[in-house]
Amino acid sequence: MAVDLLLGLQWGDEGKGKIVDVLTGDYDIIARFQGGPNAGHTLEFDGIKHVLHTIPSGIFHDKSVNVVGNGVVIDPVIFKKELDNLDPFNLDLTNRLLISRKAHLILPTHRLLDAASEASKGKAKIGSTLKGIGPTYMDKTGRNGMRVGDLELDHWTVKYRSLADKHEAMLRTFDVDIQYDLKELEAEFMEAVDRLKTLPFIDSEEYLFQAQKNGKKILAEGAQGSMLDIDFGTYPYVTSSNTTAAGACTGLGVSPGSIQGVFGIFKAYATRVGSGPFPTELFDKVGATMGKVGNEFGATTGRPRRCGWLDLVALRYAVQINGVTELMMMKADVLSGFKEVKVCTAYKYRNEEISHLPFNIEEANVKPIYRSFPGWKEDLTRLTKAEKLPKALLDYIDFLEKSLDVPIRIVSVGPDRKQTIMR
Ligand code: GDP
Ligand code: IMO
Ligand code: MG
Repeated sequence: MAVDLLLGLQWGDEGKGKIVDVLTGDYDIIARFQGGPNAGHTLEFDGIKHVLHTIPSGIFHDKSVNVVGNGVVIDPVIFKKELDNLDPFNLDLTNRLLISRKAHLILPTHRLLDAASEASKGKAKIGSTLKGIGPTYMDKTGRNGMRVGDLELDHWTVKYRSLADKHEAMLRTFDVDIQYDLKELEAEFMEAVDRLKTLPFIDSEEYLFQAQKNGKKILAEGAQGSMLDIDFGTYPYVTSSNTTAAGACTGLGVSPGSIQGVFGIFKAYATRVGSGPFPTELFDKVGATMGKVGNEFGATTGRPRRCGWLDLVALRYAVQINGVTELMMMKADVLSGFKEVKVCTAYKYRNEEISHLPFNIEEANVKPIYRSFPGWKEDLTRLTKAEKLPKALLDYIDFLEKSLDVPIRIVSVGPDRKQTIMR
């Protein structure tokens, strides 16, 4: 049986959590394949708003199995908090939340290294979420990391100590003053590891292989977005993993041939949190209104998200890299009331008009070229049928589908599960 992928196509926060939750009923297994607690995936239903960071967004459906794949990096401390936050829901998690033995662990010292690295960069900082993501993936590719499976060994704390000591030595090489009490951080870490160990650790690639053989349907849940991909994003202002379709193969151990649907999610406009180029960013009242109406604050860090018009050059690139088969347009409701809606269709690049994404999209290099559409006034948040969407929005959708050559199957008109229009 097949695996479908769900990926963010912009700079993250497209609404992946919401859509995974909406689609979970159609799947047996939801599997996160990369990233870690830098992600914040928001789910809203029955008047509840809940943010998940590492736990897959299928967790609220009692029939779904949720797998944290080998490509994910897990901070036991944050993971424990996530589990604690689920307590009030009385979910039966028995054999419904499975952790890959090959997933890497974020140590308290990884977080400190992230903070030191960012502080030492000054103005050139990445604007990371300070969750230790970069240093943990560096240890993974540097072949020094600790994995979930290591926790099953008798002497895992020896390995832990040696790595943490090495990190402390590295911390001293930064010319910044990071205050910390490692004893306190480690006490919290050890307690959280004990909680993590109450969950089943699995060989997830084998589990997913057998599940496919047995006809189970799998939805792979991405984190971040294509423009934050370590290879294809706006490097170095990216995260440290492959957020694109290929990341699902390496992050779960599923073969490329098993992938069927690639669902690409994008906002009807664009946002970015953290540093880095963003050609269509708005610094005026229009951008401020998008941020206010769209409630654009980071689900993990609470930082305000930068807002701007949809960038079709970047979106087309993401559709291409991922081989997107279906699109999902989020937050169409936020654009209600704008006199005009603009889309960047090409860049002015070195006095030339280009429609592909060049190596460098810093402001000095590219200027967006816009096409303007008439806006719509109607409140969309109560609509349930595609035919009822305002004509101006349907024209906008039609233009995007033609430009991207992929159908837009879902139009989301609010944060709640129910505010989802299928086309
Ligand atoms: P994710 O990281 O991709 O899961 O997205 P986030 O949860 O970080 O950010 C998306 C935000 O938009 C959350 O607060 C969602 O509740 C909200 N949201 C999702 N879809 C819609 C929508 O169609 N309209 C509105 N107004 N909000 C939405
Ligand atoms: P979800 O899954 C939006 C951004 C950070 C920073 C850069 C690197 O909720 O869409 P990192 O902590 O990964 O080293 O930060 O990536 N970033 C995100 N932006 N949504 C996310 O996840 C993000 N995860 C990381 O703001 O610019
Ligand atoms: Mg998010």
